[in-house]
Amino acid sequence: MKIGAPKETAHGETRVALVPETAHRLARAGRSVIVQAGAGVAAGFPDKAFVDAGAQTVADGMAVSAEADIVIRVGRPSDAEVTSLRSGSVLVAMLGARSDPAVVKALASQGVTAFAMELVPRIARAQKLDVLSSQASIAGYKAALMAANSLGKYFPMLMTAAGTIPPSKVVVLGAGVAGLQAIATARRLGAVVEAYDVRPAVKEQVQSLGAKFIEIPQVAGAEAAGGYAREQTVEEQAKQRELLTKHISEADVVITTAAVPGRKAPVLVTEEMVDAMKPGSVIIDLAAETGGNVAVTRAGQVVIRGGVAVHGPVNLPATMPWHASQLYSRNVMGLLDLIIDKEGNLKLDFNDEVVAGMCVSHAGEVKLK
Ligand code: NAI
Repeated sequence: MKIGAPKETAHGETRVALVPETAHRLARAGRSVIVQAGAGVAAGFPDKAFVDAGAQTVADGMAVSAEADIVIRVGRPSDAEVTSLRSGSVLVAMLGARSDPAVVKALASQGVTAFAMELVPRIARAQKLDVLSSQASIAGYKAALMAANSLGKYFPMLMTAAGTIPPSKVVVLGAGVAGLQAIATARRLGAVVEAYDVRPAVKEQVQSLGAKFIEIPQVAGAEAAGGYAREQTVEEQAKQRELLTKHISEADVVITTAAVPGRKAPVLVTEEMVDAMKPGSVIIDLAAETGGNVAVTRAGQVVIRGGVAVHGPVNLPATMPWHASQLYSRNVMGLLDLIIDKEGNLKLDFNDEVVAGMCVSHAGEVKLK
């Protein structure tokens, strides 16, 4: 069984799917491991570290894809990379399969068994495979740091010889994995934090991090199947905006993280709400890639409106590639443990809901539900 990791080719991608730690684990279990030369350099993992871990480096990425029985990547392969994969081989990546069914079709025609890491079921048994959580947590952490860096104020309260500095006020909208990490990080930096989420179940988690939960009594129980948020009704959205405007206009920083799976992100911060903020305030919109939670967000840009800086960062995990790669790679190991038996043979059990839920193409057929 040969397992290979090519260098990522997407613009701005610094992560790598295999790190020396996981390469060592595979090599120790008797797998043959190949890594494209230079694949880990941008993440801080030189070729020598992979070789010391028992892997072999290969100059050509296409050769890695062609030789390996299981190819692991961070992002989806390009068209050329799809055609370099062998029929009968396995590909594991964050394919973005639902937003790009064409790549799944191409993989099925190529005879590749493909697993989409982003389709991990959000159940306790699959937590160690959960790339949504491992990467969202980094995005939340970085969002708080970006905000602190962009704001012309201290986050913490300070008593100085020149007088007292009050703490900054941070409002976090959406308290899922990213939002909770943003809250925790902003709190560690000393800010006063308030948070809002449509799922009342997160109230206690928000409070346990030392933040205040913003209650909107008319918007209750917006939790759908699987623990995700459902879409809001028009009345709920109006009520939510009215109350949030008050909190946002008093904030120095707003961090938005709200997503509804499979849909465009809901607009939680309107143009009027941005205009109600003080000049010098900062917004970090983590939903920029799926349309944005803020009406004026431009993905990959910083928009200045009335002195308010609205950041629409894309791929924040790639700005912290060492840990993002390490955690991603451990998540992938969790999947490999489910599909490789002790003798090192591929064993696909489609009665396992994790295997079945993440497999998007097999034996020439698209299996994406
Ligand atoms: P997400 O990225 O889908 O959404 C982020 C947050 O935005 C969520 O908390 C959501 O409720 C909130 N949101 C959506 N629309 C909103 C609106 N209009 N206004 C305010 N907030 C809004 O969420 P994430 O972080 O992926 O987590 C989703 C669920 O999955 C959570 O219940 C989480 O606890 C659960 N989960 C379960 C895991 C497991 O058991 N393996 C692992 C990780 C998360």
